[in-house]
Amino acid sequence: MVIKISKNKQIGILTINRPDSLNAMNREVLLEFINELKKIQSEKDIRVIIITGSGEKAFIAGADIKLMQKMNREEAFDFANLGQELANLIEKSDKPVIAAVNGYALGGGCEIALSCHLRIASDNAVFAQPEVKIGLLPGWGGTQRLPRIIGRGLANEIILTGRNVLAKEALDMDLVNKVVPQEELMSTCFDIANMIIKNSPNAIAESIKLVRLAAGTNLEKGLSKEAKLFSELFDTEETAEGLTAFVEKRPPKF
Ligand code: CAA
Repeated sequence: MVIKISKNKQIGILTINRPDSLNAMNREVLLEFINELKKIQSEKDIRVIIITGSGEKAFIAGADIKLMQKMNREEAFDFANLGQELANLIEKSDKPVIAAVNGYALGGGCEIALSCHLRIASDNAVFAQPEVKIGLLPGWGGTQRLPRIIGRGLANEIILTGRNVLAKEALDMDLVNKVVPQEELMSTCFDIANMIIKNSPNAIAESIKLVRLAAGTNLEKGLSKEAKLFSELFDTEETAEGLTAFVEKRPPKF
């Protein structure tokens, strides 16, 4: 198995386990990742998902260059679509997905991190979209998600130069939420996950949808959808429980 699954109470952890290739992703990794992610997303007791890489050096060093060297145009198209399918699956997950970036997040690795809802980086993390250096361009969503997260000017700089962005700079440009010492990476992700787990799963799922919508719609449509989803929560037992618990001065049971 190239994807290791583990659980910490209500947190599911997916680890890309191909350390000899710095967790570079070939078709096998992508297919297994998609499969395992779907399984863990459907598990009722899992409320937050964390994605990380094995070893202390790399989160994901990108798409597998040795594989791409032998690809023709049709195969490359399928490979781009497969990587995008995984990134879309992460981004559209009802359960929050946290990237625990424990080292190199390059090319496709950066793109997988960009599709996560939160990015927590260890102090040795390195981000880059270095595709142009090997005659490629980001193919798993980098040209679309990076400008939406850090703005068009910076995204152009990073994509056109292919340069490395170290953890501290990634934090300054809002590419990551937090930078912590490597030995504290997973415990920090667990702390954040546990804060999320205390909250209403329905409200979390709908909030994820709305924040995603904000990147691709105009303000009027986004606000109208927000009012609709806000009001629909009032038909749910979960929201009734949250409101009642506040009034009764007790913690809610979600
Ligand atoms: N694909 C395939 N193998 C990779 C790889 C990748 N993306 N990245 C690293 N590896 C392999 C190396 O080939 C090496 O294997 P061998 O010993 O069998 O040769 C092993 O991992 C260790 O790597 P290095 O010896 O290079 O380790 P290093 O510490 O000297 O350098 C590194 C680390 C800077 C990350 C360097 O490996 C590197 O630059 N890797 C490529 C990064 C990259 O360009 N990624 C983007 C790929 S394109 C893409 O992702 C397209 C897309 O948008 C979908």
